[in-house]
Amino acid sequence: MTILVTGGAGFIGSNFVLDWIDATGEPVVNLDKLTYAGNLASLASLKDDARHRFVRGGIEDAALVEQLLATHRPRAVVHFAAESHVDRSIRGPEEFLTTNVIGTFRLLTAATAYFRSLDEAERQGFRFLHVSTDEVYGALGPDDTPFRETTAYAPNSPYSATKAASDHLVRAWHHTYGLPVLTTNCSNNYGPLQFPEKLIPLVITNALAGKPLPIYGDGKQVRDWLYVADHCAAVRRVLEAGRLGETYAVGGGNEWANIDIVRHICGLLDAARPRADGRRYAEQITFVTDRPGHDRRYAIDAKKIGDELAWAPAETFETGIAKTLAWYLDHHEWVTAVQDGSYRDWITAQYGDDHDAS
Ligand code: NAD
Ligand code: DAU
Repeated sequence: MTILVTGGAGFIGSNFVLDWIDATGEPVVNLDKLTYAGNLASLASLKDDARHRFVRGGIEDAALVEQLLATHRPRAVVHFAAESHVDRSIRGPEEFLTTNVIGTFRLLTAATAYFRSLDEAERQGFRFLHVSTDEVYGALGPDDTPFRETTAYAPNSPYSATKAASDHLVRAWHHTYGLPVLTTNCSNNYGPLQFPEKLIPLVITNALAGKPLPIYGDGKQVRDWLYVADHCAAVRRVLEAGRLGETYAVGGGNEWANIDIVRHICGLLDAARPRADGRRYAEQITFVTDRPGHDRRYAIDAKKIGDELAWAPAETFETGIAKTLAWYLDHHEWVTAVQDGSYRDWITAQYGDDHDAS
């Protein structure tokens, strides 16, 4: 048996692939375009592992996806591939439409044709799991109840609008064409292997480099943080036992204002890696212009996945952030290669520009 994972060289995808092979031993075909966010160094430990077959390519490449499905005959598709950074979507939305909307459409179309080619027993077991975000629900006020599966969609950024569109396509492919789909809508992830453009790794790496720690606006925006391994466990569980056509909201129950997170990280760094000049990392905090259309608060009510599938996060924010910080302090080479861009040179030297890299 095999699964096809898309976007498995990104932050959550690479954590998922490592976790999946470790937990299940089941082979993975990993289709990833290796955009700036894809990093094969994150999968270096699988380099000689026959259970991991890496293929460089885009989900929008219908012929490639059809060929991969026909050749490897996966029992499931787990779809992580996306343009994922809100700030980039504001500066340049088009890639978000190409990958998140057109790419998901092509993947669904290929998966449906493949699904129909399976025999009855294989069709019974087949799943298409779409990994989405809580941002599709828009923003909460301070006293609003957290997002749930029934919350109306109200995306506010180009990123969340394209993710919302992809969620609707997945739903439609289930209702219209009978594709056996599952969707997860997860809150903010953090943990090892996250590209340092997102708040937590950016703050850790900037702090260590003596750079400013940029806080958008007043820093009082709230996010619900989930340790990435807990998200991976939720995806595994939904794939295993989720009800077809259902969506599952996934979150950590850890609501933190951005400024409090940044101060917390600074305090941990003061203890773990004191500044040479004896000053506090918090002195590097700098308030900057707010993100346009910045959503004020996200929070998830994860009762459905808890009740139906007995999933609960293993980490609190305090334990997860301590593990995350330890990982970044221990993986200086990974961080440096990302910061100086040499991880791209390594990918090109090792795997070529546009070939199947397995
Ligand atoms: P990421 O940006 O770190 O990784 C995305 C990966 O997708 C990269 O490896 C990239 O090369 C690949 N990719 C991009 N375009 C592609 C294409 N056209 N074809 C094939 N591969 C392509 O993203 P992430 O943070 O790991 O997020 C993964 C998924 O989880 C996304 O769908 C995102 O919307 C969702 N999600 C993320 C979070 C979060 O906090 N990071 C929370 C909830 C949901
Ligand atoms: O909620 C899930 C979403 O979480 C995912 O769908 C997205 O893919 C993921 O990127 C993340 O989106 P956010 O916009 O919430 O994450 P980001 O790390 O970019 O920002 C977190 C908060 O920190 C947000 O309120 C903006 C703020 N911020 C971010 C950066 C990069 C700053 O104040 N300064 C910064 O430099």
